[in-house]
Amino acid sequence: MEHSDIEIFNDSLARCLRGEQFFQRFYELFLASSPEVREKFQQTDFRKQRRMLQSSFYMLVEYVALGWPECQAYLERIAAAHGKHGRDIPPHLYDLWLDCLLRAVRERDELYSKEVEGAWRFMMGAGITFLKLRYERPLVNQAPG
Ligand code: HEM
Repeated sequence: MEHSDIEIFNDSLARCLRGEQFFQRFYELFLASSPEVREKFQQTDFRKQRRMLQSSFYMLVEYVALGWPECQAYLERIAAAHGKHGRDIPPHLYDLWLDCLLRAVRERDELYSKEVEGAWRFMMGAGITFLKLRYERPLVNQAPG
C-alpha cells in the first residue's frame, strides 16, 4: 500500500540520517561504481550536493504523498538539470545510482529488511521514472496552464 511505503521510507531515512554520514557514504559508493559517474561529478561541491539530494528526497515524498504542484515544479527543474541538454545523465546510470543508494541504506539502517528495501524502491522508483522520462525532452520550459 502506497501510504505505508511512504511511512516505512520516512522512518528508514530518519534512521539513516541519525547515524554516520549517510549521504557521504552513498556518494563514496556511487563514485566508486563507475568512471562515467566520476566524470559527471568532477566539479562538484559535495557538501552542497549532499544537502540538495536530501532536500530532493523530501520533495519527492511530498510529491508522491500529496501531489503538490510546487513539488512537481521542483522535480521538473531537477529533471531539466539531469536531462540531455543539462548534465546529460543517461538513463542507465539511474540503476547504478539506486544500487548504491540501497547499499548505503543496508549499511546504515539497523532495521533494514525486504519491506524497507521495497519502500525505498517504491519511492526512488517514482523519482527515477520521473527523471528518466524527461531525459530527452524536459517539460520545464513549457508554459504553465
Ligand atoms: C532519482 C535520482 C536522482 C535525484 C533525486 C538527484 C537529485 C539531484 C539534485 C537535487 C541535484 C542538485 C540540482 C541543483 O543544482 O539544483 C543533483 C545534481 C546532480 N546530479 Fe543528481 N539526482 C539523481 C540521480 C542522478 C544520477 C543517476 C546521476 C549520475 C551521475 C546524477 C548526477 C548529478 C550531477 C552530475 C549533478 C550536478 C552536480 C554539480 O553541481 O556539480 N544524479 N541531483
